Amino acid sequence: MGFKYDDYVYSKKIIARRLNGFVPEVLITLGSGLGFMADEVEDPVYVPYDEIPNFKTCTAPDHKGRFVFGKLCGRNVAVMQGRLHCYEGYTMEEVTYPYRTIRLLGAEKLIVTNAAGCVNMNWKPGDLMLIADHIRLFGNGPLQGENIPEFGPRFNDMTYVYTPRLQELAEKKARKLDMPLRKGVYMFFPGPNFETPAEVRAARVLGADAVGMSTVPEATVAAHCGMEILGITVLTNMAAGVLQQRLSGEEVNEAANKAAADFSSLIRECLKDM
Ligand code: HPA
Repeated sequence: MGFKYDDYVYSKKIIARRLNGFVPEVLITLGSGLGFMADEVEDPVYVPYDEIPNFKTCTAPDHKGRFVFGKLCGRNVAVMQGRLHCYEGYTMEEVTYPYRTIRLLGAEKLIVTNAAGCVNMNWKPGDLMLIADHIRLFGNGPLQGENIPEFGPRFNDMTYVYTPRLQELAEKKARKLDMPLRKGVYMFFPGPNFETPAEVRAARVLGADAVGMSTVPEATVAAHCGMEILGITVLTNMAAGVLQQRLSGEEVNEAANKAAADFSSLIRECLKDM
């Protein structure tokens, strides 16, 4: 706990040694169902998280736990094939450590994807949602503790976390692909249990359209260090209590896999012009 700026610089150096001068422009975090996109990276260089100082590794199923550096749609990318979650027992600081590290390597943009439960009653499982904003009311935040001014200021602005220009780009690309794209607010819950029906009702009253267990820690840290962020969610299920049935991890994975083809074409289109 209490990483210092030099810790991030050291991790960056260890990665840079493997990259022969390659500088990533865009960091991409692949959520459930999208892991296959990492296999589409050209001239890939793989760097497993467990070979990088201070990195934690993935315990979630379908999350490989490595970076894939290379070209995707003509852009230099760093793909996180597998993300870290707080519910794996990691602190927010550990979960977000990779983002600051890759920022130091040169990446100025972040595409973050996830699967989430649908809170908005007018939408349905399988829909894609552009993240316009997020809610994290409770629990620790990733920027608590001593500020590292090399990354950003103590009291950083959160007005435009999800870059308006990138939101417009995603909406334009979705129209081009003739793909419906919802736009809404993602609310963070720490998990690993799904929410209770009462929590989902509360989330709806508060203005959330989707609930999930990722993305907010990394977006918070990436915004602090000045990255432009595009966030896209696949709504895999109606959130707890909306339907008179239980939720399961299998249902979530199945729906994520079903939406993966459309989801990845939208990301590829955005990547070209972001
Ligand atoms: N809640 C939280 N996270 C999720 C859900 C959900 O209903 N579905 C997929 N990820």
